[in-house]
Amino acid sequence: MASANPAFDRLMKKGELIETVGEMTPEYLKELKHTLLVSGDTELISAPAYYLAAQRAPSINAFMTGIAIIQDELAHAHIAYHILEELGEDQEKLIFSRDPKSFRYPYAFDVPLETWTELIVANAMYDQAGFCLLGDIHEQCSYGPWKRGLNKVMLEENFHLRNGRTWCKRMSQAGGESREELQSAVDWMFPLTIEWFGLPDSMKMHSTQLDYRLKGKTNDQLRQWWMSLVVPYMEEIGVAVPAHMEVADGQETWVLDYPFPCTFDPEAKRWDFRDPCTWDDVMLRWRARGPRNAEMIQLFQEEFHNFRKSHAGA
Ligand SMILES: [Fe+2]
Ligand SMILES: [Fe+2]
Repeated sequence: MASANPAFDRLMKKGELIETVGEMTPEYLKELKHTLLVSGDTELISAPAYYLAAQRAPSINAFMTGIAIIQDELAHAHIAYHILEELGEDQEKLIFSRDPKSFRYPYAFDVPLETWTELIVANAMYDQAGFCLLGDIHEQCSYGPWKRGLNKVMLEENFHLRNGRTWCKRMSQAGGESREELQSAVDWMFPLTIEWFGLPDSMKMHSTQLDYRLKGKTNDQLRQWWMSLVVPYMEEIGVAVPAHMEVADGQETWVLDYPFPCTFDPEAKRWDFRDPCTWDDVMLRWRARGPRNAEMIQLFQEEFHNFRKSHAGA
C-alpha cells in the first residue's frame, strides 16, 4: 500500500494519528471524506426517522427520552459534517442542497418507524449496529479529530441501545398484545439490520478503509459481533430471532436461519424467507431507496429554504 508520500506511509505503519490535511495523501482524504459522509448522513437521517415514532410515545417521560436521543443524533451528525467542513466541504450544501437519493445512509431508515415499539426496537438493533460500526472506527481511527469526537458519540449510542433493551424487556414481560407487537417489529427489523453491514466478505473482502485504519473489522466480522450482542439478549428476554450459534473447531459462529439475502416487501414490512434473492436485487432495492427517503430529507431541507427566503434581504 505504498504511496508517493513516505511521511504518510510512516504514520500509517506506526499506527500514529493523522491530524492535518497536509499529512494525508489525496486517496486517504477521499476515503476519509466518504466514511465521514456515510456517518454524518446516517446520524442525520435517524433524527426524522425517530421523530415520527417518538410522537407516539406512551408517556411524557418516554417522549422526553425519545427527543433526547434525537438531539444526540443531530449532535453526532454535526461532528461528522463539521469535520467534513474542515476538510474543505460545504456543510450547508451537504445537508440542505443535496438530492435525497444521494444521501448515504442505510436502507433500513427508509422504512418508516410508525410506533413507539418500532422505535425502541430500532434503539435495540439499529443503534446497536451504529455502536458496532462506530466502536470499530473509534478503536481503529487514524484521523485524530474524528477519533476524539467519537468518544462522546460512543457514550451516547450506549444510552440509546440501553433504552431499546430496557423497553424490549418490559414489553416482553408485559405479555399479550405488547409482546406480540414487539415480536412483529423484531421480525422485520432484525433481517434489515443484518443487511445493514453490507456485502458478505466472500464478495467484498478488500476495503481501502481497512488499509487506511478507517475501519478495523470486515463486514462479516461486524455482522457477527452485532449478532453476538443482539441474539443472546433477545433469547434471554423471550423474543425469537432467526439466528443461532454453531461451534466448529472451538470457533463460535452465528448462523442465520433464513437465506441471506432474501426478498423484502417494504410497504408490508415483510420478508419472504422462501424467496432468496441475489445481492444485485438488494442493490437495486437500496438504490431505489425506500418509502420515506424523499419525505424525510424534505422535512429539513424545505424548512431551511423557506427560512432563507423569508429572511432574504432582511
Ligand atoms: Fe448516533
Ligand atoms: Fe443512536
